[in-house]
Amino acid sequence: MPLKKLKKFQIKNICCIGAGYVGGPTMSVIAKYCPDITVNVVDINKDRINNWNGDFDKLPIFEPGLAKIVSDVRGKNLFFSCDVHKSIKEADIIFISVNTPIKSHGIGAGEASDLRWVESSAREISMHARDHTIVVEKSTLPVKTAEIIKSILESTKQNSDGKNNKITFSVLSNPEFLAEGTAINDLENPDRVLIGGEDKESIDLLREIYLRWVDEKKIITTNLWSSELSKLIANAFLAQRISSINSVSAICESTGADVEEVAKAVGTDTRIGIKFLKSGPGFGGSCFEKDILNLVYICKSLGLKEVASYWEGILKINDWQQDRIYKAVVDKLYGNISGKKIVILGFSFKANTNDTRNSPSIKISKKLLGEDATLVISDPKVAKNKILESLNIKNKDINFVNKISVEINIAKAIENSDAVLIMTEWEEYKNIDWKVLQHKMRKPAWVFDTRSIISVEKIQETNLNFWQLGNGEFN
Ligand SMILES: NC(=O)c1ccc[n+]([C@@H]2O[C@H](COP(=O)([O-])OP(=O)(O)OC[C@H]3O[C@@H](n4cnc5c(N)ncnc54)[C@H](O)[C@@H]3O)[C@@H](O)[C@H]2O)c1
Repeated sequence: MPLKKLKKFQIKNICCIGAGYVGGPTMSVIAKYCPDITVNVVDINKDRINNWNGDFDKLPIFEPGLAKIVSDVRGKNLFFSCDVHKSIKEADIIFISVNTPIKSHGIGAGEASDLRWVESSAREISMHARDHTIVVEKSTLPVKTAEIIKSILESTKQNSDGKNNKITFSVLSNPEFLAEGTAINDLENPDRVLIGGEDKESIDLLREIYLRWVDEKKIITTNLWSSELSKLIANAFLAQRISSINSVSAICESTGADVEEVAKAVGTDTRIGIKFLKSGPGFGGSCFEKDILNLVYICKSLGLKEVASYWEGILKINDWQQDRIYKAVVDKLYGNISGKKIVILGFSFKANTNDTRNSPSIKISKKLLGEDATLVISDPKVAKNKILESLNIKNKDINFVNKISVEINIAKAIENSDAVLIMTEWEEYKNIDWKVLQHKMRKPAWVFDTRSIISVEKIQETNLNFWQLGNGEFN
C-alpha cells in the first residue's frame, strides 16, 4: 500500500515485538547507529524484559560485544518494556521478531511453522497503530506469510478506541541473517541486508536506517516472496554444508583419512569455499532444523515430493551424526556405561552463546542417561537451571536428577571420571592441560573430541585414550 502523500514520512520511532536472540541484539545495533531514533523493544515475557533492564553482565542473551552496546544506549534511545500497545501506538515502523517454532500438533505438526505469535503481533498492530505504519517481518517465516499479515492488518476495521480504523500499513520482509555467537559482528558488518516489498517508499525508509552503517552495495531489494524464501534457503544451504561434511567425517573414520585435511583440500577450491566445512556433533540452535522442516512442508504442500525428500536428507544425517557419537562412546567404554561418570564439556549449541535450543549436548546427554551413565555437565555460560530445564528434567524424576550434576570448574568436573566428551568449541576447552588433568580421571580413561579442537600431539603425550570425530587415526 503506498504511503500517504500528505507529508514526508520520517522514521522517528521504532518498535520491535520480541526481545529475543534476534530482537535484542538487532535493535541494540540499530539504536547505536541511529541516536535520533527511539527504539522500543517489547515482549510479553516479563522476566526477559526485567533482565534486559537489569545488570549489564546478566543480560538475558550472551553475545560478545552486546553488553557494551546496551550499556551505551539503554535509557537514551533504546528501551525495553512489556508495554506492547503503547510502543505500537508510538511507532512509525514495527519489526515483528517473535518466535516461529514448528507446530507441535494439528495439521502440519512436526513440520509447518506455528505462526500464532506472528498472527497475534499482527492483530496487536492492527488494533493499536495510530498512523501509517510500516510492518517488517524480521522473524523467519514461510514464503507467503506477508499475505496473512496484510490480511489481518487490513481486516481490522476498528482500533482500540472503537473508532473506524483508517490507518494504512505497508508490509516488508527483512529477514535476519545473524549467527548466534557472532551476532554483533554480523549485524555491524553484514554480508548483505535483504529487503523485500512492493512499496518503494517504505523500502527506501527501511534502507535509510541500514545505510547509517551498511554500504549501499550490500543492501539487496527483492519482491516480498523472494525475500521470505531466501532466508529459508540460506539456512537450508548452510545446514546442507554441515551435513555434507559430517557425512564425510564418517567416511574418514572408516578409511584413515582426516576430515580436517579433507575439508581444507576441498574448501580451498574457490568454487566451494572453506566456510561451514567444519565437522562436528551436528547442527543445533533454534533455526536450522525448524527452517528445513518448514521448507520440507512447503515443498510437500506444493506437490514437490522429490525436493522435499532431498532437504529431509540433511536432517536425517544430522540425527545420525549425533546417534553415532553416542554409540562410539558406549562402544569404547566396553559397551557398558552404567554407573560410569561421563563429563560433558559444553552445553550451548555452539561457542559464544548461552543458547541451548536443540543443542547436540541435549540429545547425546539424554542417550547417555538412558544407558544409566552418571553425567557431570560443564559450560562457561549456561546456568544449572537452564541445563536441567533443557534436558526437561524435573525434581520428581529422581532417577535422572541424581545422575546429573553441573560443575563449571573443569578440573572438579573431571575428578574420577571415566570419559570426557567435548561437545562445544569453547576457547577454554582448546587450552585444557591434559597432562595435568589426566591424573584426575579413572583409568582407562577416554577423551572424545567431537569438535576437533584438541591438539593431537599434546594428547598423545598423556596416557589417555582418544577419539576424535572424523579422524581415522583415532577411531
Ligand atoms: N536465533 C537466531 O539465531 C535467529 C537468527 C535469524 C533469524 N531468527 C528468527 O527470528 C525469530 C525470532 O528468533 P529468536 O531466536 O529471537 O526467538 P526468541 O524465542 O529468542 O524470541 C522471541 C520473543 O518473542 C516474544 N513474543 C512472542 N510473541 C509475542 C507477542 N505477541 N508480543 C510480544 N512479544 C512476543 C517471546 O516472548 C520471545 O521473548 C524466529 O523466527 C527465528 O527463526 C533467529
